[in-house]
Amino acid sequence: MTSPFRASADTPADPLDALAERLGGIAYGGDYNPEQWPSEVWQQDVRLMREAGVNLVTLGVFSWSRLEPRPGVHDWDLLDTVLDLLHENGIAVDLATPTAAPPPWFTRAHPASLPQNASGTRLAHGSRQAFCPSSPDYARAADAVVTALAQRYATHPAVVLWHVHNEWGNHNALCYCDTSAAAFRDWLRRRYTTLDRVNDVWGTDFWGQRYGDWEEIGPPRETTAFRNPGLELDYRRFSSDALLDRHRAESALLRDLAPGIPLTTNLLGTLEKKVDGHAFARHCDIVSVDHYLVAADPGNHVDLALNADLARGMAGGRPWLLMEHSTSAVNWQPVNVPKAPGEMRRNSLTHLARGADGILFFQWRQSRAGAEKWHSAMLPHGGTDTRTWAEVTALGAELASLAEVRGTRVRADVALLFDWHAWWALELDARPSERLRHLDTVRDWYGALWDLGITCDLVAPDADLTPYRAVVAPSLYLVSDSDADALHTFVRGGGHAVFGPFSGAVDAHDRVRTGGHPGAFRDLLGLVVDEYLPLREGESALLSDGSRAGLWTERIEARGCTARLRFADGPDGGPARGGPAATRHSYGAGAAWYAGAALPARSLRDLLDAVCREAGAAPAAAVPAGVEAVRRSAGDRAYLFLVNHTDQEATVPLEGHTRLDGTALPGGASVPPGGVVVLREQAAPGREADRR
Ligand code: GLA
Repeated sequence: MTSPFRASADTPADPLDALAERLGGIAYGGDYNPEQWPSEVWQQDVRLMREAGVNLVTLGVFSWSRLEPRPGVHDWDLLDTVLDLLHENGIAVDLATPTAAPPPWFTRAHPASLPQNASGTRLAHGSRQAFCPSSPDYARAADAVVTALAQRYATHPAVVLWHVHNEWGNHNALCYCDTSAAAFRDWLRRRYTTLDRVNDVWGTDFWGQRYGDWEEIGPPRETTAFRNPGLELDYRRFSSDALLDRHRAESALLRDLAPGIPLTTNLLGTLEKKVDGHAFARHCDIVSVDHYLVAADPGNHVDLALNADLARGMAGGRPWLLMEHSTSAVNWQPVNVPKAPGEMRRNSLTHLARGADGILFFQWRQSRAGAEKWHSAMLPHGGTDTRTWAEVTALGAELASLAEVRGTRVRADVALLFDWHAWWALELDARPSERLRHLDTVRDWYGALWDLGITCDLVAPDADLTPYRAVVAPSLYLVSDSDADALHTFVRGGGHAVFGPFSGAVDAHDRVRTGGHPGAFRDLLGLVVDEYLPLREGESALLSDGSRAGLWTERIEARGCTARLRFADGPDGGPARGGPAATRHSYGAGAAWYAGAALPARSLRDLLDAVCREAGAAPAAAVPAGVEAVRRSAGDRAYLFLVNHTDQEATVPLEGHTRLDGTALPGGASVPPGGVVVLREQAAPGREADRR
């Protein structure tokens, strides 16, 4: 795999290593918004930051209207003062470009830069990210403020990292205005060269949509009935690319004007469907992500692990930064439940276990005004006499004591393929079932691996698969020819690959691969799907293991594969009664497995267990249910993290482990309810050397 990290003379060979050395350990801190407070408060802020062990803050994220109060007129007083103050107090700065919040004067002067929705309504100023990604006026103004910022602070000793924009595409990824339409046509010309090719890949002869002139093509605005799916899919790609172009433009300015300072942007992981996270990660020196729990979801710790494993996958296996999470409640869910005592520590250490080398929050001091005043922060409204503050200072001290862990890596035997393009395509209109949702399927499959204790990297389908023993593709409806070829090669060479329902059905343009489903993997899997058979709400199909599949079934004809699980004979077996529901097919030196149904948790766990056992992928440690075990290692150093998600004390039998202070663990470790322990492992003979 090509490294997502830029190797150039401008940045150190491993930017995160250099950053960690500068910080003296694991990064700890959050977004700091001093502009929301009178200057007297800033002294108290830095004093309390030191008390909490904060060593890195993200500064200036939404500060454009302060830094440039009038077009071309800059006011650096606030940043000058705060940067000096932070530096004097030993706190380093992740300095943000303020481009996620164009000032009111900008949109007033350039109303056409506001984004437009699919029904043609221009969105108003008054929130954030109120700009069309393709607006040339926005690009000019953003480049100008980034240039001024970089020129002013390129050599400021506090600045150790650039934070480009904020959560690209969170609110404005899809704009349907005329400027976007023209930019889309340019993007299409670059991608396809001829209009004939566009007509071909979009299948425009269906419903007589054939284009005779580029100018006839527009965004997928609201229409009478279904829009062309090829156009919709490409519009998502174009929209993600338009923002990526902005990221690259800002990055180029920063690299040019402030060489040697690495850059990052806070990616959204699975929180954001609209931009291709893998593509952005390839253009960062350090990968960072934001993660927020859905408070109402009792399994939200599994989603946390999933997103941490995605961050690591996007970082090519290297450590990464958790740029934002919350100390307690957020303010944007229907009911915003605070975290329970100890939950913030458990969340933070789980991210650390899965490869984070920095734990940061939104935000340092809880706002007293504005849309996020009820969002928790490191320093709550109640000040230092609060439970949150006590937990924040305790966590700061604990992270300092865990400094030796940073730089080590999580090494996964299993890759889980996660692809935004497949996500976009699966959820376009007019599918066999709206109930088959990409993220739901990925979560189910990831959850089964989590239950089995198997650590996996979530990677793009074009990632280098050679480090892995098994590849899990829960929802790969769309797959390109080259990615499908790579999966064949992986299995032929001895790997195990397992695919979820409806995978491999269409090509990179959402055109059905004909000749028997799933066209991309028919031979690999040794089967043909005669028909996709989605189930209605409330329906299910009995399986030979006694469980029931809901949502989705398939009529599979075996052509060399063996059935591991079948739909029951008789009406209870559903529309595919009597046929295979999960299969295995020897192929080359490996095997390809398939689930032709939305398998219930138990059956899915059994299937993935069988795949992992055959592939030789094992859990980091044998632990009781509800306990998470993850290993980080480098050379002969290894650490085992045990996270107890139950309300009972957990005992984990272990040998060859000590606490970090060197004390022995006779008979194993005990992990308090809701607690985490970090252990040092003695070098185990035969443990695999670094594979990357
Ligand atoms: C995002 C943003 C922050 C803040 C938080 C609130 O992560 O980047 O500015 O709005 O959400 O959860």
